[in-house]
Amino acid sequence: EKGNYRHFMQKEIFEQPTVVAQTLSSYVRPLEQKVALPQIDFDISAINRVTIVACGTSYYAGMVAKYWFEQFARVPVDIDFASEFRYREPVLEKGGLALFISQSGETADTLAALRHCKAEGQTIAVVVNVPTSSMAREADLLLPTHAGPEIGVASTKAFTCQLAVLAALAAHFAARKGRIDAAEEAEIVRYLLEAPACLNGALQHDDEIAAMAHLIAPARDVLYLGRGPDFPLALEGALKLKEISYIHAEGYAAGEMKHGPIALIDEAVPVIVLAPSGPLFEKTVSNMQEVRARGGQIVLISDAQGLEEAGEGCMATIEMPKVHPLIAPLVYAVPVQLLAYHTACVKGTDVDQPRNLAKSVTVE
Ligand code: F6R
Repeated sequence: EKGNYRHFMQKEIFEQPTVVAQTLSSYVRPLEQKVALPQIDFDISAINRVTIVACGTSYYAGMVAKYWFEQFARVPVDIDFASEFRYREPVLEKGGLALFISQSGETADTLAALRHCKAEGQTIAVVVNVPTSSMAREADLLLPTHAGPEIGVASTKAFTCQLAVLAALAAHFAARKGRIDAAEEAEIVRYLLEAPACLNGALQHDDEIAAMAHLIAPARDVLYLGRGPDFPLALEGALKLKEISYIHAEGYAAGEMKHGPIALIDEAVPVIVLAPSGPLFEKTVSNMQEVRARGGQIVLISDAQGLEEAGEGCMATIEMPKVHPLIAPLVYAVPVQLLAYHTACVKGTDVDQPRNLAKSVTVE
């Protein structure tokens, strides 16, 4: 049931504050200021390597998690597209954790990779939205997202719920490995619990983004740039735009632009820059200036401070709430989802059922 919404995708984007809060409620204990995982019967502090495998949007959630696991828990992380994973004959050391991320829990490549890792003696953890799915059944450690059924083919709320679980998992690792103390864990818990309100703040820009979509809809190509944990968000933004509006889009690590893709820049190519203020901000802004010097039309997504510093001369800006870098990827998912959604609406495409795509990909 779509209720008052035009599309399931739109409804699911707007459900995010609620479903992220719902998901977090099983991973954090607000009173004790601790993260809490479902009952597990193995020693997480003994895990020295994590291998993440997923497809599509779930893969991008995994890319964000790699930054978190390495930064907070100092655990090395390998990540692969499920379709590539087995065929490169990965080296899986004893005692590793293999982590699979999937909305449906049925994606054929991801499931095959899971079975491969199980046969290789890895501990199997899954972040999955469908609790009755094959992946959920075959896991040693089941980490459900509580996004509720996702009907729109383009994944939205499942993604932010995956990020919420992965952030809690990273914090749990960090705490068990003694990389953060109780005060730091409490701080992370506080930031995580702020996420639903920040998502709400991001959703307030819906009308503005709907107007902006008219600037994006005529484009043939669009670029998305981000750094650090916001680089996967650039990839996710490009994927969302491609799949529902059929505009060619690419996501790039902001610093990688000048190594080739900058040759594409002219007045006809909108460049969406995801740059929360913080330690990487200045670097991203200087990459943005390189684009601007070549006539690129920029949409800057940042907080008030970032827009104040670098918003001038942009084709458009979108102001996000000021958030801790840990939850920025969750919050910045909203404007890229809305931009893709409204651009598709301007173009009149079938938003919930884009051509050539299926909700669950059960062939390899
Ligand atoms: C993008 C999208 C797909 C899925 C991918 C993996 O919007 O929906 O890229 O993310 O097919 O699906 P799951 O997460 O079900 O394994």
